[in-house]
Amino acid sequence: MNKNMSDKKILLSGVQPSGRPHIGNYFGMMKQFLDLQDSYKIYAFIADLHALTTMSKKHEEIADNTEGVLLDFLAIGLDPKKTLIYKQSDVPQVTELAWIFSCLTTMPYLMRAHAFKDAEAKNKEINVGVFNYPVLQAADILIQDADVVPVGQDQRQHIEISRDIAEKFNNQFGETFKLPEVRIVESVAIVPGTDGQKMSKSYGNTIPLFATDEEIEKSVMSIVTDSTGEKPENVYAIHALLKDKESLDKLYDESKGNYKALKEALIEDLKKFITPMRERRDALAKDKKKVLEVLREGGKVARDRAEKKMAEVREKVGLKLY
Ligand code: TRP
Repeated sequence: MNKNMSDKKILLSGVQPSGRPHIGNYFGMMKQFLDLQDSYKIYAFIADLHALTTMSKKHEEIADNTEGVLLDFLAIGLDPKKTLIYKQSDVPQVTELAWIFSCLTTMPYLMRAHAFKDAEAKNKEINVGVFNYPVLQAADILIQDADVVPVGQDQRQHIEISRDIAEKFNNQFGETFKLPEVRIVESVAIVPGTDGQKMSKSYGNTIPLFATDEEIEKSVMSIVTDSTGEKPENVYAIHALLKDKESLDKLYDESKGNYKALKEALIEDLKKFITPMRERRDALAKDKKKVLEVLREGGKVARDRAEKKMAEVREKVGLKLY
């Protein structure tokens, strides 16, 4: 029997709008959305309210980056008919629910969160938004009755906090929220950068996902290689994302010791992988109005669903009079 859309489990995750994605982001979260869009109903949203917690960010930057993530999602092949794409601030019910959750969550409990402790250690003038970050995240997840939340290892605690908040609410007010399952996206941690460390913008070792040919050549040529080894491990590790092990090992065997040839082979494979996506993104960017319509429509659907949930919540907590 054909699986009805409403039978599918909801897989939800948010990404902060933070500039150009790299191939590490692709082989982490983005590809996950792509691979699962037929087996789950996916809710992929852009966490623009969470981005406000970093007040150094300029507002134009948040808006530009939000548009950027939308283009990225569409360019890699997310299909708005299967995947709901929206931005967090188009669902104001989320902040309303976050307030209610704030009144249910204690300060000592949130003070134990790793992200807060790290931020506090670095900055004494920490804002309340940073402190409340996990509560807003819980509202994102619980308001949509998400079944599964795929995140990187660094976000595990935030999903645990969401489950705790759901349980606490359910105990106090009766069954209301589904407890979401975490799904750790392992490859987020594995994708190596050009220096062999984890690929990360903060290390300056990335290969941009929509890189131009020149950028691809430059970043591959900068990959650090160990001149004593049999094969250039860092080149191989990136190449392994694009090719199956058998043909890769054959190639590295044939060109043993010839690092230049192997880097050139990687450049060629990266170009094959990146060029069609980059061209699609450029084409989409030419019709911003149409592209933004996808976000607006997605917001409407997410908001309607959130409003239904909130009506139930308002009644349970005593806010409904008529
Ligand atoms: N905190 C997440 C991150 O920085 C982004 C995020 C916000 C999120 N809300 C979410 C992820 C809800 C999963 C579910 O990566």
